[in-house]
Amino acid sequence: MSAYANPQVQPLIYHEDWPSIDSRVVKDPTTEAFIQDILVQMSLEEKVGQMIQPDLREVTPEEVAEYKLGTILNGGGAFPKNNKYATARDWVETADEYYQAGRRPFEGRPFHIPFAWATDAVHGHNNVFGATLFPHNIGLGAARDPDLIRAIGEVTAAEISATGLDWTFAPTVAVPRDYRWGRVYEGYSEDPSVVHAYAAAMVDGLQGQDESRFGDRKVISTVKHWVGDGGTLRGVDRGENHYTEEYLVNLHAVGYASALGAGAQVVMTSFNSWHNPKNYDLMDGGNYNQKIHGSRYLIQDVLKDKMGFDGVVITDWNGHAELNDCSAGNCPQVILAGNDIVMVTARVDWQAFYRNTVEQVREGIIPMARIDDAVTRILRVKYRAGLWSKPSPKMRSGSGDQAVLGAAQHRALARRAVRDSLVLLKNEDILPLSRDRSVLVVGSGADDIQKQTGGWSLTWQGNENTLERDFPGATTVLSATQNLLGEARVLTEVSEASPSTVALVVVGEDPYAEMLGDIGMTKTLEYAELKRSYRKDLELIRDLHDRGHPIVTVFYSGRPLYVNEEMMRSDAFVAAWLPGTEAVGVTDLLFSDGRYDFTGRLPYSWPAKKCDTSINAVPEHLSQLPIPDFEQTADGGDAPLFPLGYGLSLDKNRSDRFGVDLAQIALDERDYGCGMPAPDQRIATEPLELFSHTAPDDFQLYIGGTSTDWRGVPVSRGSVTQIAGLRTKPIDRRHQQDAVRVEFMGKNPAQIYLSVLDGDPVDLKRYLNSGGALEFEIGIDSQPIKPIRVAMHCVWPCIGEVDLAGYLTEPYDEAGWVTVSVPLIDLEAAGMDFATVTTPFLLHSDSPLTVRIGRIRLVP
Ligand code: BGC
Ligand code: BGC
Repeated sequence: MSAYANPQVQPLIYHEDWPSIDSRVVKDPTTEAFIQDILVQMSLEEKVGQMIQPDLREVTPEEVAEYKLGTILNGGGAFPKNNKYATARDWVETADEYYQAGRRPFEGRPFHIPFAWATDAVHGHNNVFGATLFPHNIGLGAARDPDLIRAIGEVTAAEISATGLDWTFAPTVAVPRDYRWGRVYEGYSEDPSVVHAYAAAMVDGLQGQDESRFGDRKVISTVKHWVGDGGTLRGVDRGENHYTEEYLVNLHAVGYASALGAGAQVVMTSFNSWHNPKNYDLMDGGNYNQKIHGSRYLIQDVLKDKMGFDGVVITDWNGHAELNDCSAGNCPQVILAGNDIVMVTARVDWQAFYRNTVEQVREGIIPMARIDDAVTRILRVKYRAGLWSKPSPKMRSGSGDQAVLGAAQHRALARRAVRDSLVLLKNEDILPLSRDRSVLVVGSGADDIQKQTGGWSLTWQGNENTLERDFPGATTVLSATQNLLGEARVLTEVSEASPSTVALVVVGEDPYAEMLGDIGMTKTLEYAELKRSYRKDLELIRDLHDRGHPIVTVFYSGRPLYVNEEMMRSDAFVAAWLPGTEAVGVTDLLFSDGRYDFTGRLPYSWPAKKCDTSINAVPEHLSQLPIPDFEQTADGGDAPLFPLGYGLSLDKNRSDRFGVDLAQIALDERDYGCGMPAPDQRIATEPLELFSHTAPDDFQLYIGGTSTDWRGVPVSRGSVTQIAGLRTKPIDRRHQQDAVRVEFMGKNPAQIYLSVLDGDPVDLKRYLNSGGALEFEIGIDSQPIKPIRVAMHCVWPCIGEVDLAGYLTEPYDEAGWVTVSVPLIDLEAAGMDFATVTTPFLLHSDSPLTVRIGRIRLVP
C-alpha cells in the first residue's frame, strides 16, 4: 500500500441497482407541515416564479418582485452592476436588493418565501474579486485527503457568506473517462472511490454538519452533473454517454450516493444524453434524443423515487433548450421529467418560459401535482437551509466583511492544498533546489495567473484576467521564487544564465471552461500540438537542454497530456494541475527545506501515447463488467506511462513508483488526430474551424483601422471591444459567446479579421487543392452603403480580396443569418498564396455597417 494512501478513501462495493440514500438531513414533520401550510396558500404564478432561475445579468430586482421569482444565479463572469471589482459590500448590497425584491410580493400575505442566490464557487469563491482560489478539483484529487476537502468547503462557504449569497453549484462529482473532455479538471479523479469520499466531505464543509449545519457561514451545496457527464463519447462536452446502467450506478454516479447521504440538498441535471446500450430503442419520455434534461427515468424514477432524494433538482444553463421540441422559452417536458428549478438565463426566455408554464398548467399539459411537488421541494430546501430564520443578506453576521475574502488563514489553507496536490513525476537527483544559488525562471506559465487559475476564475473561461489588476495578493512561481531567494538570484533571461544554472521552466495550458476546452477529433493529446504557443514551450525546453542547463519543469494543466519529450529533456517534472492563486505552495516543495515533501499521487493515470485518449482501467469493484468497446483507444489501449496513484517523493523510500522506469519513456511519432484516418497532407478532408466554439485558438480575432494605425486590437469573446470607428459585442449563435456583432461607424476605414497569434504563417494549401472554400456565417443588420470586402492575407502585402455581394447567394434563415462560401480559387485568382496564410478571414468596410459574424471555417 502507498505510503500516502488514506484510510478514509475506501474501495467501493458493487451495487446491483441504484442505492437508496440515507441522508443525514432527515425529513421532519414540523418542516413538512410548515411548507404545506404555505403551499396551499400559493397562487399558480407564485409557484412558477419559484421554479425559474434567471442569470443576474438578465433580471432586475423589480422583475424579481413582478414575477415573484424565487432564485437567481450569477453565471461565470457575472458581477453586481457588471463590476468585476465589486467588493464584499457591493455583493451584499446587490444580494440585499434582490432579497428585498423577493419579499415584496408577499407584503400583506400571511406568509413569505425567502429569496436565494446561487453561484459557481467551484474552487473557492472564484467569481469574486479578492477571493481565495484553491486548486481545481483535479489537483485536490491528488491529495487523497477528505479532511482537506472539508476544510476547503468550510472556507469557501465562509467567503460565499461574506458576499451575502446562499448557495453554490458544487461539488462536481464527474468521473471523467476521456482526457479530451474540457472539464476533466472539474472532476476529482478517475478513481470513483476518491470521488465518493470527497463528495461527502465537500458537502459537509459547505453545508456544515450536525449543529453547524446551515448555520451562519454555511451554504447550500449542489451535486452535479446528474449523470454521466464524465462519460461522454470521445470526451465531447454535453455529448453522448453510452455506458450501461451498471456503469452509471457504480462509476459515474458514486458521488451522488455519498454527497446526498451527507445531506446535499440540490442536484444539477447534466447536458449530456444517455444511450443505454442495452436498450437503444427506448424512447425516454418521448425524448428520443435521450438528453438527460428530458429523462423522466433518470430524474423522477431513479433519483427521486428509487434513491429517495427529497431535495431540489435544478437544470443546467438552458439545458432544456436542447430537448427535442423545446426551446429556451418553452419546454413542459423538462418539468414533466422531474426537474424542479429551471435555469433559464436570458430575459426573453425566462419571461416566455414563465408565461408558457403557467399556461401549460392551466391547460393540464403539466399536472398541478408536479408543480406542487417541485415547489414543496424548493420550500423544503429553503427551510432546511435556514433561510426563514436568516436575516436579509445585509443583516447577516460577517456579511460584507472584505477581510474574509482572501484572508490569511484561507490563503494558508490554499497554499497547503497546492503542496498536497503536486505530483512529482520525475526527479533525477535535482530536487529539492538550493535556496542559496541562482535560478533561471522561465516559461509561459512562470508569471501567468491565468494558467494557474484555469477556467471558472473571475470570468467563465478564466481568461481576460491579469495578475496585477485581477488577483492582488496572489503568487506565481516567479514571484514566490523571488520572495524566497531575493530578486537578485532570480534570472529571467536565458542569455543571462550560465549553463550550470538550473532552469525552472513553468509551462502549461491556457485556461478554458466547458466545451471550449474540448480537444476534439483533429488533434491528439500532444501538448505541443494543441496550440502554437505551446509549441514554443517545447522549443524553450529543447533550447535550454541544448545549452546544457539542468531543467526542472512545472506543468500546469487541466488534464494529463502527452509531454514525453518535455519530460525526457527535463531532470525533474512536476504535474501541478491548476493550483489557483497560491503558487507559493509550488516553491514550498521545489525549494523544500525539509519541512515538506511531495505527497500528491496521480488522480488520473498519465497516458504514454498521443492517442491513449480514454481511461480504461476499471476499479476493482467493477472488474466483473466488460470494458466498453468505445474506451478502446485508436492505438488499442496502451498501458499508461504512469498509473493512477503514481508519484515520487523527495524521500525516495516513500515514492510510489509502480515499477515505472523513467529511462523507458519514448517518443510517439504519430502526428495526426486520434480516431481519425491519417490525413492526406496534400488534400484536406476535414473542415478547419477558424472561429467557433470549438475552434482552436491558433487564430485570434482582431479589430483595427486607421484609428489604430492598422494595429490589431484583440476582440474579447466576453465583453465589448471598441476602437475609434469600430465596436464589437459578443453574441450567442449556437453556443454562448460563439459569435460577434460588429458595428463599423464609418468614420474611418476599419476591419475585423482573424490572424495567426504569433505571426508565423501557416500552410493551408491542402484546402485549395481539395477545391475548398472559405465559409462563414453572417447577418447583415444595416444596409451597406459601399461594397463590403472579404479578404485573406498571406505575408503582407500579399492578399486576395473579393466583394462580398457576389457571394450572398444563399437564402437568409429566420434569424437573419446566411452562410457565405467563397471558393479559394477565387481568392487565389485575386492574389492569395495559400502556403503562407497569416489572416484566413478579413472583413473591411469604410462606411457605416452593422453585421453579425458566426462560425468561420475552411471547408475542403
Ligand atoms: C455564463 C456561464 C455559463 C455558460 C454556460 C456563460 O455565458 O457566463 O456562467 O456557465 O455561459 O455555457
Ligand atoms: C455549467 C454548470 C454551471 C452552470 C451555471 C453551466 O454551463 O455546466 O456547471 O453550474 O453553467 O453557471
